[in-house]
Amino acid sequence: QQRPLGLGHAVWCAREIIGDEPFALLLPDVIVPQAGRACLANMIAAQAAQGGNYIAVEEVADDLVDRYGIVDIDRDSGGEQSGWRVNKMVEKPPVGTAPSNLSIMGRYVLQPEIFDLLGSQTEGAGGEIQITDAMDRLMAQQPFYAEQLAGRSFDCGSKLGFLEANLHLGLADAEVGDAMRQEVKALAGA
Ligand code: G1P
Repeated sequence: QQRPLGLGHAVWCAREIIGDEPFALLLPDVIVPQAGRACLANMIAAQAAQGGNYIAVEEVADDLVDRYGIVDIDRDSGGEQSGWRVNKMVEKPPVGTAPSNLSIMGRYVLQPEIFDLLGSQTEGAGGEIQITDAMDRLMAQQPFYAEQLAGRSFDCGSKLGFLEANLHLGLADAEVGDAMRQEVKALAGA
């Protein structure tokens, strides 16, 4: 990507490398400490078994929906294997207008048809080419499933999220965890 035109444009730039097959998309500023089988592994297995497109979702506070892509799901469709069917997606809806508080948390398994739609995608939220808008259009042709993240993610696109990720992962680290705990205790007691 030569210019920062948006996430959707960045993904479109990889179209020739990926070619005509499903692919996983990971937003690296979202950190997911692994607990058990990874959400992305489940989505890849589900795609191999039943096709379609997959996005990992996580609940966020109602007043934070305008930082994320938000999905509307069919709660009655929830199979353990496939996740929920997605009805609608909207990128960064204003607080109070979101269809739910389930956010797209930065892990996707997508079909290559997304590239055609990204090629014609107009600017969306923030004046950027948004992958969420192209996915919402692809839903007219192909099913999308939402897989709820077990555990939590850290959104390192925000200052607080970045600091929380360092704290949590540091405390859990075999090499530096004890020293960090001492440091945190000392700070908390100060
Ligand atoms: C991107 C996506 C958004 C998603 C978010 C996760 O937004 O466009 O749908 O919810 O990542 O962090 P960005 O963080 O680039 O604004």
